[in-house]
Amino acid sequence: MKHCYSFYLILSLAFVSTQSASESIASYPEGWENWPIVKETVSLPSNTILPSDTTLFIQETVDAYSWINNGEGSPLTIRVNPDKLEQYKTHGPYTDGPTAVGVSEVQGIIWVTEHFGGLPIYGSYNREGQDISGMHPTLEAEFCQRCHDTYKDVCINGTCAEPVLSIYQSDSSN
Ligand code: HEC
Repeated sequence: MKHCYSFYLILSLAFVSTQSASESIASYPEGWENWPIVKETVSLPSNTILPSDTTLFIQETVDAYSWINNGEGSPLTIRVNPDKLEQYKTHGPYTDGPTAVGVSEVQGIIWVTEHFGGLPIYGSYNREGQDISGMHPTLEAEFCQRCHDTYKDVCINGTCAEPVLSIYQSDSSN
């Protein structure tokens, strides 16, 4: 009997570890559609020729996501959890919970950054809230981490965008 149990334990552990390879770590943040927009940008089409002084960080980002919308690029909207707007302005430090989303508008890919224990975690979902991190290698949580956690001069505490300040100005006048 004892032998039997350990066999099943090994089986289920193997199952868990193969599953987690393409699973989002951040959870789907319900209600993100109503979060304030801090930046409207684009993911660039695959035929973009970048200026020669473009940073390695930006080159890697453009390369990684040039497959989006069959290489034609897409508008990208960045929204921030209203409870974390002030934290986002200074790139943290962040309290726990969902922090920001990047929404690739054409295909409806939702990039999610959440914080847990002060550290960033990542996930990819569609508009229905289904985990799509298995759809493409660049949507896996580990891939996000490699870029967001490597370029520490740009991505501080896991957020990378320079927020557009006008939203904060109109915010404070309310
Ligand atoms: C090769 C680099 C790179 C990879 C890989 C990457 N990102 Fe990003 N990410 C960026 C850059 C650059 C920005 C800022 C874009 C801008 O300012 O226009 C950004 C912005 C974001 C934002 C908006 C909030 C912010 O300011 O950071 C979220 C959310 C996000 N990424 C989540 C993810 C998730 C989830 C993944 C993996 C599925 C991922 N990223 C993979 C470079 C990367």
